[in-house]
Formats: sequence, C-alpha cells, structure tokens
Amino acid sequence: MSSRSPFRLASRAIDSAKRPFSGAEGRRAPLAVLSEIRQAAAVCKACDLWKNATQTVFGEGKPGAIFMMVGEQPGDSEDRKGRPFIGPAGRLLDNALAEAGIDRDDVYVTNVVKHFKWSASERGKRRIHKKPRDSEIVACRPWLDAELEVVKPRVLVCLGASAAQSLLGKDFRVSRQRGQVVDSNLAPAVVATVHPSSILRARDEESRSEQLNDFIQDLKFVARLAKSIK
Ligand code: URA
Repeated sequence: MSSRSPFRLASRAIDSAKRPFSGAEGRRAPLAVLSEIRQAAAVCKACDLWKNATQTVFGEGKPGAIFMMVGEQPGDSEDRKGRPFIGPAGRLLDNALAEAGIDRDDVYVTNVVKHFKWSASERGKRRIHKKPRDSEIVACRPWLDAELEVVKPRVLVCLGASAAQSLLGKDFRVSRQRGQVVDSNLAPAVVATVHPSSILRARDEESRSEQLNDFIQDLKFVARLAKSIK
C-alpha cells in the first residue's frame, strides 16, 4: 500500500481523530479530519464500483451529530449530485425525521457502500439500482468505520437490511428486530428500521401510510433513546 493510498490517508486521519488535543502534534479539529477522510474516499478504488459511478458519495453531517443514519448505497440522484439521501428516499426520510421531532442538523447520513451500483434498464434509458455484493460492502467498510470514529454518534440507525446485516450480522432480520436496541460496540445505542425506499415501494396508498407511520414511530423511539444517553 503506497503512502498515497486512500486507506492509508484515511487511517492517518483516524489516528489523528483518536489523539488527545495537545498542541501542534495533537488531534486536529474533527471537521478537518472528516474532510481529509472525504478527500481520501473520493479516489477510492477498493472495489470496481467506481468504474460505473459518477463519484464517491461520502456521508454528510457534523462531527458530534447525535444520530448517524446508514443506508445501503447512493441512488441515481445521489450519484449525480454527490450527496447522500437527496433523492425521493431522502425526502421521505427528512419528512419522517421532522414528524418524529428530530432536528435534521443532529443527523449524519451515510451509506455502507459509497458508489452507486446500477445496471441499464431494458431500453437503456434508466439506471436501475443493483444490490451491492458482500465483497463490495466489505471493501467500503473502512470509510464507515472512519466516519464512526470521527462523528461518534450517540445513536446509530441502520436503514434497511443491507445496512443492518452488514453492521449487525447476517442473521439480523429487520422485519422481526426493527426498533430493538442491539448490543454493539459501534455506538452507545444501535437500532435498525426499514429503509425509506421500501415505503416508497408500498403496494398502495393505505399500506404506504401505515408503513410511514411505523417508520415515524421507530424514529420517535430513536429520539427518546438519544435523550436517555448522555
Ligand atoms: N438510498 C440509500 O440507501 N442511500 C442514499 O443515499 C439514497 C438512497
């Protein structure tokens, strides 16, 4: 691994984040560290997904954010704009957070995979989301670990099965275990719920509104959980 390798740069940044503040040789401001990690991730080629993606979509939010919400991978809009959760699923998430009384500024959003994986639709006009492989999730993991190290969220929320199973184990079932606090060393409290995209895919309006309501209830629980951890 060369000294310019993205992971080498990221691990240097993480080391810096771990050091205590102590003059010039000490820890740099978390925002600077996060920006260094973001720059390193921008040139990541640890798996092949960079080849068909427009750009790396790194997480967004403040170091010290109370909540970190982790999805699967950026979608089409996110890939074009280079920002996570800004498409339809992101808009649903923002509205649900507001309904749950969670200030969007207290949330850091990111994904387990930071490049958009897609295949062309039959007529080649649309880019269809493709589920990432385990090897791609594993290759991307150092970036999420770096984000966790710098942001240090009080509550980590896995959105959907890909995030939950990659962070909490293959046997994790969102359908059965959503809204339960999971024992994990990733953050003081770790919870999973559904991915906002699954609500957008509901078969009819009634089911969509039920699923949305359940999602908001999960987020309200997450808000209460954060208040119970100081
Ligand atoms: N879905 C995700 O999982 N992440 C995004 O950033 C957008 C959609």
